[in-house]
This record gives sequence, C-alpha cells and structure tokens, in this order.
Amino acid sequence: MEKFIRGLPKAELHVHIEGSLEPELLFQLARRNGVPIRFDSVRALRESYRFTGLQSFLDIYHEGAAVLITERDFYDLTLAYLEKAGSQNVRHAEIFFDPQTHTDRGVPFETVVSGIHRALEVGNRKLGITSKLILCFVRHLSEQRAMETLEQALPFKHRIVGVGLDSSELGRPPEQFVNVFARAREEGFRVVAHAGEEGPPDYVSQALDLLGAERIDHGVRAIEDPELMKRLAKEQIPLTVCPLSNVKLRVFASMAEHSLGRLLDAGLRVTINSDDPAYFGGYVTENYLAAQRALDLDRDRIHRLAANGFRASFIAEAERNAFLEELDDYVAAH
Ligand code: ADE
Ligand code: ZN
Repeated sequence: MEKFIRGLPKAELHVHIEGSLEPELLFQLARRNGVPIRFDSVRALRESYRFTGLQSFLDIYHEGAAVLITERDFYDLTLAYLEKAGSQNVRHAEIFFDPQTHTDRGVPFETVVSGIHRALEVGNRKLGITSKLILCFVRHLSEQRAMETLEQALPFKHRIVGVGLDSSELGRPPEQFVNVFARAREEGFRVVAHAGEEGPPDYVSQALDLLGAERIDHGVRAIEDPELMKRLAKEQIPLTVCPLSNVKLRVFASMAEHSLGRLLDAGLRVTINSDDPAYFGGYVTENYLAAQRALDLDRDRIHRLAANGFRASFIAEAERNAFLEELDDYVAAH
C-alpha cells in the first residue's frame, strides 16, 4: 500500500506556499536578508512547532514568513515546494499565497506574485507539474483591507485563477466578506474558502451561499451537521482535507478520530492535501499515508481520493481527463 500511495499520480489543491518554508531555507533567507530570528538552530526552530490550535500556529507562521523579502526569496520558496511535490508524483498543484502577510511588511504585491509565478513556470517546464495560483484574503484583517488587496491583484489577473479566505476562523464568519467575494466573482476569479476547520458547520454553508465558494478548504466539521452532509454529497462540493494539519492543530485528538473516512463514505468529494507541510510534518504523500494507516483506507478509497483531487481542480476538461486516465492506468498496473 505504501508503494502504491507513493507512486500514485496526485493533485494538491490546498497548500499555503508560506507554509512550505522549511526551517533550513528559513535560516538561509534570514541570513541572506539580515533578518534576526529568535532561534539559534534549525533544530530549536523545528522543536518550537508545537501547536495548541490554529492561532498558535498562525503566530509562528507569520514570524517565519518575515524572512521572505525579495522576488528571489519567493522564487526559491516556490521552487523548493515544487521539487518536493514532484518527488511525490504531484502532477498538478493549486497553490495559495497570502499577499497581505507580505504587503503589510512593505513587500510589494508584484514582488510576491512575480517570484512565485517564475517558479511555477520552471516547475511546469522542468518538472512537468501544472499549477494555478490562488490569492487568499486573511480574515483577521477587515473586508476593506481585503478589497484593497483585490484591487492590487487586478493587474496580475492572468496569473491568479481564484481567491480564497484563510487565517483565524473563529469569530470571523464568511458573511463578513460578502462584498469582496462578490467583486472578485465579477472580475472572473474562481472562489474557494477555508470553512469548518475550527469554525462551525454553519460557516461552510455561509461560504457556499454568501461567498459563492466552489470548494471548501478543510470542511471537516461538516460531519456534525447531517443536513449539510446531505447537501455536500448531493452537490458534490469538493472538500480539500489536510489530515496532518487537523491533528497538529487539534481539530481532532488523533488521526483515528479524523472525519475523513466518514466524509468519504457518505459520498462527499473529499481530497487529501498538505496545508502547511513544513510545519505539520509532511507533504501530500505523508498525509495520504497517515490517513490510510489510521483509518484503514483500502485501495479503492485511495484511488477515489486521488481522482477527486483532479476532479475538484480548476483545470480544463481535456487536461482533467488526461490526468484521470493516467491515474486509472497507474491503478490498473499496480
Ligand atoms: N493559513 C495557513 N494555514 C492555514 C490553516 N490551516 N487555516 C487557516 N489559515 C491558514
Ligand atoms: Zn489552509
């Protein structure tokens, strides 16, 4: 099973590029840019990655992101992620970035997008990974600030497929961001949103009904609402589930208690993703392996999870069919 999972052609639809910043690269960039860090070794930094919930993680994540300053930093960060993803047979990646985390520190929007974009082109050409970029508004800042960020993104519309909503969820329901998402939809952006990670199932409904979300990031707390479960199954709304993240951030006390298997067996379009792989102990393959072992997922379920990744992606129909065919051929041959 492990070999089967490692070689499986995969899509990754939920990865924050800032969350793929490994401690080694973090130290290297800190040195290159003269940014002070409060740890004296990679090991000490890695040992600080113990979280009590989403906010305790976000504090460390924002601290880490402060070493990203130049276009080259964003390029190096993104290329390192793509190389790792490629080694795990990720064939297509839809990558989140949080521009406000950088523009708030004085790093220009263009620097961020250009660095990431240049690496995505190299990833496509040299590693054969197709990709899309999704801008996330951070919900700990106001809708007004999100609107300003959307304005900044308009000149780069051709490089950004969609918008999402991330950061501290509790107390910040999707309804607070209705206007900025309406504007983003008018501008032709696809829409996703984090909901039902720490927040209640009602935030999932709000993301669908008020923001027009086409996919829900996490959504694992939907399991608490039978009516919502029926709707998600009927409408085949994709959930981008990140198993290791949910255990690290204590959404579930252990992997054995994770709702992923129940969501999948209820007919929901569940996918497996890494969220912030440098902080949560693994990339997409490790997420598949941890969920498979704890929940005893069989080959058919693993196949379905991988197929759902391609089905839920924002790629053109012909490309999607080619990936699904590649996946089916792999499963038939292994
Ligand atoms: N930003 C980075 N990772 C996140 C997560 N798991 N939830 C919300 N915002 C995030
Ligand atoms: Zn996330």
